[in-house]
Amino acid sequence: MMNKNKITLLLCICAMSLSYLSAFATSKVTSPNGRLSLLTGVDASGKPYFELLRDNKSVIKKSYLGVSLKDGQLFEDFKVTKTSRNQLDETWQQPLGEELNIRNHYNELTLHLQQNKDKKRMMNIVFRLFNDGMGFRYVFPKQANLNQFTIIDEKTALTLPWDASAWTIPTEGTHYYEGLWTKAPISEKPTVSTPITMEVNDSLYLVFHEANLTDYATLNYHPQKDQNGQVILSSELTPWSNGDKVYAATPFVSPWRTVIVGSTIADITASRLMLNLNEPCKIKDTSWIEDGKYIGIWWAIHMGDYTWSQGEKHGATTANTKRYIDFAAKNGFKGVLVEGWNWGWDGNWGAEGDKFNFTKAYPDYDLDSLQHYALSKGVRLIAHNETGGSAKNYEQQLDSAFALYQRLGIRTVKTGYVNDKMDNLELQHSQYGVRHYRKVIETAAKYQIMIVNHEPAMPTGLNRTYPNLISGEGVRGQEYNAWSQDGGNPPYHLCIVPFTRQLAGAIDYTPGIFNFENKAVPQSHPQTTIAKQLASYVVIYSPWQMAADKIENYEAHPALSFIQRVPTNWQESRVLNAELGKYVTIARKERNGNNWYIGGLTDQDPRTLTLHFDFLDNDAQYEALIYSDGEGADYRTNPYPLAITQKRIRKGDSLQLKLAPSGGFAIELKKIN
Ligand code: NOJ
Repeated sequence: MMNKNKITLLLCICAMSLSYLSAFATSKVTSPNGRLSLLTGVDASGKPYFELLRDNKSVIKKSYLGVSLKDGQLFEDFKVTKTSRNQLDETWQQPLGEELNIRNHYNELTLHLQQNKDKKRMMNIVFRLFNDGMGFRYVFPKQANLNQFTIIDEKTALTLPWDASAWTIPTEGTHYYEGLWTKAPISEKPTVSTPITMEVNDSLYLVFHEANLTDYATLNYHPQKDQNGQVILSSELTPWSNGDKVYAATPFVSPWRTVIVGSTIADITASRLMLNLNEPCKIKDTSWIEDGKYIGIWWAIHMGDYTWSQGEKHGATTANTKRYIDFAAKNGFKGVLVEGWNWGWDGNWGAEGDKFNFTKAYPDYDLDSLQHYALSKGVRLIAHNETGGSAKNYEQQLDSAFALYQRLGIRTVKTGYVNDKMDNLELQHSQYGVRHYRKVIETAAKYQIMIVNHEPAMPTGLNRTYPNLISGEGVRGQEYNAWSQDGGNPPYHLCIVPFTRQLAGAIDYTPGIFNFENKAVPQSHPQTTIAKQLASYVVIYSPWQMAADKIENYEAHPALSFIQRVPTNWQESRVLNAELGKYVTIARKERNGNNWYIGGLTDQDPRTLTLHFDFLDNDAQYEALIYSDGEGADYRTNPYPLAITQKRIRKGDSLQLKLAPSGGFAIELKKIN
């Protein structure tokens, strides 16, 4: 294992203690700093429950737990046979991330449960309390009366002490998690996907999500009020086509159900509990897993200039790809994404993805020679594998395709699943889809391939275990600014995403559009200024970050220099200011360096933001290169004015920045002494 990836164990106390107690006793576990406490046990009907408090005030009220099986139930008639405790304090390092060192510090309590009647089945519930929240999971031990089983429903039902505002996207009718996030009292929401971000009050923010989703159905929550007017979030698992939720065999564990508890909006972005609830890295040598920036034959296709399929307007030709490789080499981009290089695009691919071939290039695309050409220039091609949703067809070709790419020196593959259903039958977020995505990541790791997954399962921290899962979509990305009939992503969109979707993991948003003209769909274009496009490189986290525009739009553009220099892997990250849905400023320190990068952006309202540089090193000077909205910049009328200024900054200094309507700023802070 590489040094940078080495797990540093600062302090590990694995003190396991068991206690045997009376059936209805309540057990308590607290977070390491003592602020959060969790009470758990079973009630008079043997129903397992828990309750979460912060500073002795209820955050989640008595909430019931369990699952329904096809041949029985595991949600009542339980007694607690014993409890066991554990704790851990370790610090581990991630090869790529918003932060290098991740502290994993928790107290754990396990309820060991057994049913009194019938088959006397056993189930355990493990709770982990961190300073920034909690996770719990169901454990189904090996036992005579529970072997293969089918979960038809999860009974996790979280009772909230209040009806507060939540930012969500609905589960139904939101394709590939590409909806616009909206805010409303949680009780007014339909069934929603996770993450769910709740603004309870000025000092309480909650995020509901899951961790370690590897062989289970995706979690959604259905909010409703009970007869007492209490809001309950009932879990609703994404089903298989026959309505079943999960097929399992003991021993088996569910994913973790997570709740981040923060006092500020910045707290929720700093939480790493979802990563901590995944298993440590399974890839021994991670030296091939790298971050970087890429360009691609992509935006021009979405704008209708080129086609994916072969023909007169084919984009992925040998000559055109060479042009992109030359530009990448000249301007320091590591990768060139090529879409439409392989057979399958001219079929009825949306519905019959089984025609895609992932090893055979179109006749006008010379895969071998292009790859040699790219490598000779220090650039790598990024292969695109659009499956059209045909998981089976893709799985049959995974080994041969990834072996070919490895031989050719291709290290990154962008996958895609554009179709309502996988294999025309199963939902992408069902256990069927989750198993498929996992298989792709594991197979890719064998061939040293990194995956950028479009139309993905919502990330749940699996990149701790498989850091080759480099980034993903699962967001309404830049592409909507090319063809969405509603005009593109609204100005407030990126003021929400860092506090919702981004809490789940890295996003391949594909920023960096500099030319906002759109002949194909004139009403659509980025509803931002150029400076806001630059700001996105810091605000949106992705270890592979695209410069999405056509290369001709970058030639000699003064803003390109920021994209060239902004890093994609970070030592630490912090939110400097934010109001959810209105504005956000994020500062990130480069990995293994001294320089900081700051991105700030606003919704449709112009505003002045004041930055306080209290996070810089003592007694050091920094040269700030500031890219901000120029005179007259306005996303509606003139998105182009950009001011580039320089300034010396020291710790403790403040800086006022004016943001245009849907504008932004990007700053490079170079430490000079
Ligand atoms: C949707 C993806 O998000 C986009 O990036 C890609 O170009 C198309 N599918 C075609 O695969």
